[in-house]
Amino acid sequence: MIKVVYDIKVYREALKDIIKSEDTVVELGCHIGNSTKIISKLAHEGKVISIDNSPESVESMGALIRDYNNVEFTKADVRLHETLETVIRKIKTCNVLSVDLGGGYHPDTTFKVFFIWSSSLKPRDTIIRNRGLLDFIHSSKTEETIKSSEGWLESSAKDGVPPRLKEFTLWSSKLKKEGI
Ligand SMILES: C[S@@+](CC[C@H](N)C(=O)[O-])C[C@H]1O[C@@H](n2cnc3c(N)ncnc32)[C@H](O)[C@@H]1O
Repeated sequence: MIKVVYDIKVYREALKDIIKSEDTVVELGCHIGNSTKIISKLAHEGKVISIDNSPESVESMGALIRDYNNVEFTKADVRLHETLETVIRKIKTCNVLSVDLGGGYHPDTTFKVFFIWSSSLKPRDTIIRNRGLLDFIHSSKTEETIKSSEGWLESSAKDGVPPRLKEFTLWSSKLKKEGI
């Protein structure tokens, strides 16, 4: 399931509905960890990989990981392929992906980060906090139905893999086999 929200309270309530105790959760945009604490408790038998590129996060997350021992924090830019690659090498599976780069943050970047990370990690569920994407969902109309049920766009997985894009080598098994 892919859930899109804007209100931070709705976001935190949605985490409670989605996360199970043994889940591995990848949290993109943890800031100072206010939702990380909730995620850590919900996934108390699992693992939380939290990432943020803000200098503000470093001290708070450094203190947080001492009390919440299933949380691992990395200061990194989630737009970079290297950041995704490091996480993929670290975890076998990702059950839940959370993308909160800021509720009012550029929807184009948020969608790209969601698309690349979710297509690579293939989570059961994804939650995205972004106003522009929510607006787009409710404001657009279509007569066609293309639909996925996982936390990534699995129904489109076999369509149009652009082989020159480096980030897609983590996405498509076809490209991996061909050693691109
Ligand atoms: C609204 S805050 C997240 C709030 C947090 N999820 C919570 O529930 O308390 C958005 C965070 O996304 C981070 N962010 C934005 N762009 C980023 C990027 N490219 N890489 C890593 N972090 C990013 C910002 O530094 C900021 O801390």
